[in-house]
Amino acid sequence: MALVKTDIEIEKIRKSSLLVGETIAEVASRLRAGITTLELDKVAYDFIMDHGALPAFKNYHGYPATLCISVNDVVVHGIPGKYEIKDGDLVSIDCGTIIDGYYGDSAYSFGIGMMDPAVTDLMRRTKESLYKAIEVALTGKRVGDIGYEVQTYVESFGYTVVRDLVGHGLGSSLHEKPEVPNFGKRGTGPKLEENMVICIEPMINLGKRGVTQDRDGWTIRTADHKPSAHYEHAIAIHKDKAEILSSFDAIEQVTNHNILIIK
Ligand code: CO
Repeated sequence: MALVKTDIEIEKIRKSSLLVGETIAEVASRLRAGITTLELDKVAYDFIMDHGALPAFKNYHGYPATLCISVNDVVVHGIPGKYEIKDGDLVSIDCGTIIDGYYGDSAYSFGIGMMDPAVTDLMRRTKESLYKAIEVALTGKRVGDIGYEVQTYVESFGYTVVRDLVGHGLGSSLHEKPEVPNFGKRGTGPKLEENMVICIEPMINLGKRGVTQDRDGWTIRTADHKPSAHYEHAIAIHKDKAEILSSFDAIEQVTNHNILIIK
């Protein structure tokens, strides 16, 4: 698979990634204390099918659901189930779709009801680190420049970067080359090329960086059980400014007094 995409391919990835944002927004409109993560997953599945697309995560290496819903100390890959969302929860929602053979992938973190300010700060800085990274994701730069940006930004607030999971190329598969770590050294790693499409997805912990995997084979949680935030955009690499192919606009337009959206 080619790392560098044609303009037509980029349009397809954009279409798919925009549907992901709309799906997460639809889920956000239903997100509140008392709803189960499985109910939220059904909202996403129906929304994606109603739009003539396919959920990208379902059956991916055997993954059983449409969304990954990762609450509090769950970093990523939380499997929707009987868990009821509670006041004070940090809820990260990750979604992927396939339209016309091309993948979309994006993630957003929400706060439910009365939140610990330390957790909303973590959310805000994690989101900001994503945009800092996007600013340096330019043709001729290297993957290490992206990681450096995320890492130095979040570590300046005392947060830590999860090392075990990384961002990735995106196209006619969900995970393509290159790997895009959220840590690294400037000027190192694979070079970013014009029209490459990558997902940048910082997973940032309030406590220590170590993670563990549950016996379900998916759920990744912080070893110290402190909360973790996750935001993800799919972007196309260009000379002067990366194009953000996914969008948080639909999500950030949701008015729901039960959830906190970091704008
Ligand atoms: Co991803």
